[in-house]
Amino acid sequence: MFVYALVLALMAFSGRQTEPQQSAESTPAPSTAPEAPAEYLGISLAPFLPTPDTIVTRMLELAHLKAAEKLCDIGSGDGRIVIAAAREYHADATGVELDDKLARESEEKIRKLGLSQTARIIHGDMLKQRYSQYDVITVYLLPETNDLIQPILERELKKGARVVAHDFEFRNWRPTTTETIEDDGTGRSHTIFLYQR
Ligand SMILES: C[S@@+](CC[C@H](N)C(=O)[O-])C[C@H]1O[C@@H](n2cnc3c(N)ncnc32)[C@H](O)[C@@H]1O
Repeated sequence: MFVYALVLALMAFSGRQTEPQQSAESTPAPSTAPEAPAEYLGISLAPFLPTPDTIVTRMLELAHLKAAEKLCDIGSGDGRIVIAAAREYHADATGVELDDKLARESEEKIRKLGLSQTARIIHGDMLKQRYSQYDVITVYLLPETNDLIQPILERELKKGARVVAHDFEFRNWRPTTTETIEDDGTGRSHTIFLYQR
Protein backbone atom coordinates (compact mmCIF):
# COMPACT_ATOMS: atom_id res chain seq x y z
CA MET A 1 0.00 0.00 0.00
CA PHE A 2 2.76 2.47 0.96
CA VAL A 3 5.01 1.33 -1.88
CA TYR A 4 2.09 1.74 -4.24
CA ALA A 5 1.35 5.21 -2.86
CA LEU A 6 4.95 6.20 -3.39
CA VAL A 7 4.99 4.89 -6.97
CA LEU A 8 1.72 6.65 -7.71
CA ALA A 9 3.00 9.91 -6.25
CA LEU A 10 6.29 9.73 -8.15
CA MET A 11 4.58 8.95 -11.44
CA ALA A 12 2.19 11.83 -10.95
CA PHE A 13 5.03 14.16 -10.08
CA SER A 14 7.02 13.21 -13.18
CA GLY A 15 3.87 13.50 -15.30
CA ARG A 16 3.31 16.99 -13.95
CA GLN A 17 6.83 17.98 -14.92
CA THR A 18 7.04 16.48 -18.38
CA GLU A 19 3.66 15.64 -19.83
CA PRO A 20 1.36 18.58 -19.89
CA GLN A 21 -1.42 17.55 -22.26
CA GLN A 22 -2.96 20.98 -22.75
CA SER A 23 -1.58 24.40 -22.10
CA ALA A 24 -3.62 26.49 -19.71
CA GLU A 25 -2.68 29.55 -21.80
CA SER A 26 -3.99 28.12 -25.07
CA THR A 27 -7.17 26.58 -23.64
CA PRO A 28 -10.19 28.75 -23.00
CA ALA A 29 -11.67 27.74 -19.67
CA PRO A 30 -15.13 29.24 -19.42
CA SER A 31 -16.26 27.01 -16.58
CA THR A 32 -13.00 26.97 -14.64
CA ALA A 33 -13.69 26.83 -10.96
CA PRO A 34 -12.31 29.91 -9.23
CA GLU A 35 -10.58 27.77 -6.62
CA ALA A 36 -8.45 25.88 -9.15
CA PRO A 37 -4.93 27.39 -9.26
CA ALA A 38 -3.92 28.13 -12.85
CA GLU A 39 -0.73 26.06 -12.71
CA TYR A 40 -2.77 22.88 -12.21
CA LEU A 41 -5.12 23.38 -15.15
CA GLY A 42 -4.89 21.18 -18.23
CA ILE A 43 -2.29 18.78 -16.82
CA SER A 44 -2.38 15.21 -15.57
CA LEU A 45 -2.87 15.23 -11.81
CA ALA A 46 -2.72 11.45 -11.32
CA PRO A 47 -1.51 8.46 -13.37
CA PHE A 48 -3.88 5.79 -14.63
CA LEU A 49 -4.15 2.86 -12.26
CA PRO A 50 -7.44 0.95 -12.39
CA THR A 51 -9.49 0.12 -9.31
CA PRO A 52 -9.94 -3.69 -9.17
CA ASP A 53 -13.50 -4.75 -10.02
CA THR A 54 -14.16 -6.16 -6.54
CA ILE A 55 -13.26 -2.77 -5.03
CA VAL A 56 -15.44 -0.94 -7.60
CA THR A 57 -18.38 -3.08 -6.47
CA ARG A 58 -17.72 -2.35 -2.82
CA MET A 59 -17.34 1.42 -3.49
CA LEU A 60 -20.75 1.52 -5.19
CA GLU A 61 -22.34 -0.59 -2.45
CA LEU A 62 -20.98 1.69 0.27
CA ALA A 63 -22.35 4.72 -1.63
CA HIS A 64 -25.81 3.08 -1.71
CA LEU A 65 -26.03 4.04 -5.36
CA LYS A 66 -29.64 3.78 -6.54
CA ALA A 67 -31.18 3.43 -10.00
CA ALA A 68 -31.42 6.75 -11.89
CA GLU A 69 -29.10 8.53 -9.45
CA LYS A 70 -26.33 10.56 -11.08
CA LEU A 71 -22.78 9.38 -10.51
CA CYS A 72 -19.52 10.99 -11.62
CA ASP A 73 -16.14 9.27 -11.54
CA ILE A 74 -13.55 12.05 -11.49
CA GLY A 75 -10.55 10.80 -13.46
CA SER A 76 -12.43 7.88 -14.97
CA GLY A 77 -9.52 5.98 -16.55
CA ASP A 78 -10.80 3.04 -18.60
CA GLY A 79 -14.40 3.78 -17.56
CA ARG A 80 -14.88 0.74 -15.34
CA ILE A 81 -16.66 2.62 -12.51
CA VAL A 82 -18.91 4.48 -14.97
CA ILE A 83 -19.77 1.24 -16.74
CA ALA A 84 -20.44 -0.70 -13.52
CA ALA A 85 -22.68 2.12 -12.22
CA ALA A 86 -24.74 2.20 -15.43
CA ARG A 87 -24.81 -1.53 -16.10
CA GLU A 88 -25.21 -3.00 -12.62
CA TYR A 89 -26.97 -0.18 -10.74
CA HIS A 90 -28.92 1.43 -13.61
CA ALA A 91 -27.50 4.78 -12.57
CA ASP A 92 -26.89 7.72 -14.88
CA ALA A 93 -23.09 7.66 -14.98
CA THR A 94 -20.51 10.18 -16.16
CA GLY A 95 -16.73 9.99 -16.21
CA VAL A 96 -14.29 12.87 -16.54
CA GLU A 97 -11.00 11.89 -18.15
CA LEU A 98 -8.18 14.08 -19.46
CA ASP A 99 -6.19 11.41 -21.29
CA ASP A 100 -7.16 11.22 -24.99
CA LYS A 101 -6.67 7.46 -25.39
CA LEU A 102 -8.45 6.48 -22.16
CA ALA A 103 -11.36 8.80 -22.91
CA ARG A 104 -11.70 7.46 -26.46
CA GLU A 105 -11.41 3.80 -25.43
CA SER A 106 -13.91 4.10 -22.58
CA GLU A 107 -16.41 5.92 -24.79
CA GLU A 108 -16.03 3.12 -27.32
CA LYS A 109 -16.60 0.48 -24.63
CA ILE A 110 -19.75 2.29 -23.48
CA ARG A 111 -21.03 2.40 -27.04
CA LYS A 112 -20.32 -1.30 -27.68
CA LEU A 113 -22.12 -2.27 -24.45
CA GLY A 114 -25.17 -0.29 -25.56
CA LEU A 115 -24.96 2.01 -22.53
CA SER A 116 -24.79 5.34 -24.36
CA GLN A 117 -28.16 6.49 -22.99
CA THR A 118 -27.02 6.24 -19.38
CA ALA A 119 -23.22 6.47 -19.50
CA ARG A 120 -20.81 8.97 -21.00
CA ILE A 121 -17.27 10.30 -20.72
CA ILE A 122 -16.46 13.99 -20.61
CA HIS A 123 -13.07 14.29 -22.25
CA GLY A 124 -11.69 17.16 -20.21
CA ASP A 125 -10.06 18.53 -17.10
CA MET A 126 -11.56 17.61 -13.75
CA LEU A 127 -10.84 21.10 -12.40
CA LYS A 128 -13.02 22.70 -15.08
CA GLN A 129 -16.22 20.70 -14.57
CA ARG A 130 -19.45 21.36 -12.71
CA TYR A 131 -20.49 18.75 -10.14
CA SER A 132 -23.70 20.16 -8.70
CA GLN A 133 -25.97 17.64 -10.43
CA TYR A 134 -24.37 14.51 -9.00
CA ASP A 135 -25.63 12.30 -6.17
CA VAL A 136 -22.47 10.22 -5.97
CA ILE A 137 -18.85 11.12 -6.74
CA THR A 138 -16.10 8.51 -6.93
CA VAL A 139 -12.37 9.23 -6.93
CA TYR A 140 -9.15 7.29 -7.06
CA LEU A 141 -6.72 10.18 -7.01
CA LEU A 142 -3.66 11.33 -5.09
CA PRO A 143 -4.00 13.20 -1.78
CA GLU A 144 -2.81 16.44 -3.41
CA THR A 145 -5.32 15.97 -6.21
CA ASN A 146 -8.08 15.46 -3.65
CA ASP A 147 -6.92 18.72 -2.04
CA LEU A 148 -7.46 20.51 -5.37
CA ILE A 149 -10.90 19.04 -6.01
CA GLN A 150 -12.12 19.43 -2.41
CA PRO A 151 -13.09 23.14 -2.52
CA ILE A 152 -14.84 22.59 -5.85
CA LEU A 153 -16.90 19.74 -4.39
CA GLU A 154 -17.63 21.74 -1.23
CA ARG A 155 -19.01 24.55 -3.32
CA GLU A 156 -20.87 22.40 -5.82
CA LEU A 157 -22.30 19.30 -4.17
CA LYS A 158 -25.87 19.26 -2.96
CA LYS A 159 -26.92 18.12 0.50
CA GLY A 160 -27.10 14.34 0.70
CA ALA A 161 -24.46 13.79 -2.00
CA ARG A 162 -21.93 11.04 -1.25
CA VAL A 163 -18.24 10.98 -2.11
CA VAL A 164 -16.38 7.67 -2.19
CA ALA A 165 -12.58 7.76 -2.26
CA HIS A 166 -10.37 4.77 -2.97
CA ASP A 167 -7.13 4.50 -0.95
CA PHE A 168 -6.47 8.24 -0.61
CA GLU A 169 -8.70 10.21 1.70
CA PHE A 170 -9.78 13.83 1.68
CA ARG A 171 -7.54 14.95 4.51
CA ASN A 172 -9.79 17.82 5.63
CA TRP A 173 -13.02 15.81 5.72
CA ARG A 174 -14.19 13.25 8.24
CA PRO A 175 -15.45 10.02 6.64
CA THR A 176 -18.75 8.57 7.79
CA THR A 177 -17.39 5.10 6.97
CA THR A 178 -13.89 3.75 6.42
CA GLU A 179 -13.52 0.19 5.22
CA THR A 180 -10.33 -1.74 4.59
CA ILE A 181 -10.29 -4.79 2.35
CA GLU A 182 -7.19 -6.64 3.47
CA ASP A 183 -6.76 -8.76 0.33
CA ASP A 184 -8.30 -8.09 -3.07
CA GLY A 185 -7.35 -11.60 -4.22
CA THR A 186 -3.89 -10.55 -5.36
CA GLY A 187 -2.57 -9.75 -1.90
CA ARG A 188 -3.15 -6.01 -2.17
CA SER A 189 -5.07 -4.16 0.51
CA HIS A 190 -7.43 -1.27 -0.21
CA THR A 191 -9.19 1.32 1.89
CA ILE A 192 -12.46 2.97 0.93
CA PHE A 193 -13.57 6.26 2.49
CA LEU A 194 -17.21 7.35 2.36
CA TYR A 195 -18.19 11.00 2.94
CA GLN A 196 -21.67 12.45 3.07
CA ARG A 197 -22.49 16.06 2.35
C1 LIG B 1 -5.73 6.27 -10.58
S1 LIG B 1 -6.63 6.56 -12.10
C2 LIG B 1 -8.29 6.09 -11.64
C3 LIG B 1 -9.10 5.52 -12.77
C4 LIG B 1 -10.53 5.09 -12.38
N1 LIG B 1 -11.22 6.13 -11.67
C5 LIG B 1 -10.49 3.86 -11.53
O1 LIG B 1 -10.67 3.99 -10.29
O2 LIG B 1 -10.27 2.76 -12.07
C6 LIG B 1 -6.71 8.37 -12.20
C7 LIG B 1 -7.19 8.90 -13.54
O3 LIG B 1 -7.29 10.33 -13.46
C8 LIG B 1 -7.00 10.85 -14.76
N2 LIG B 1 -6.63 12.26 -14.64
C9 LIG B 1 -5.47 12.78 -14.19
N3 LIG B 1 -5.49 14.12 -14.22
C10 LIG B 1 -6.70 14.48 -14.71
C11 LIG B 1 -7.34 15.73 -14.95
N4 LIG B 1 -6.70 16.89 -14.72
N5 LIG B 1 -8.60 15.73 -15.42
C12 LIG B 1 -9.26 14.54 -15.67
N6 LIG B 1 -8.70 13.33 -15.47
C13 LIG B 1 -7.44 13.28 -14.99
C14 LIG B 1 -5.86 9.96 -15.21
O4 LIG B 1 -5.66 10.04 -16.62
C15 LIG B 1 -6.30 8.59 -14.72
O5 LIG B 1 -7.02 7.90 -15.70
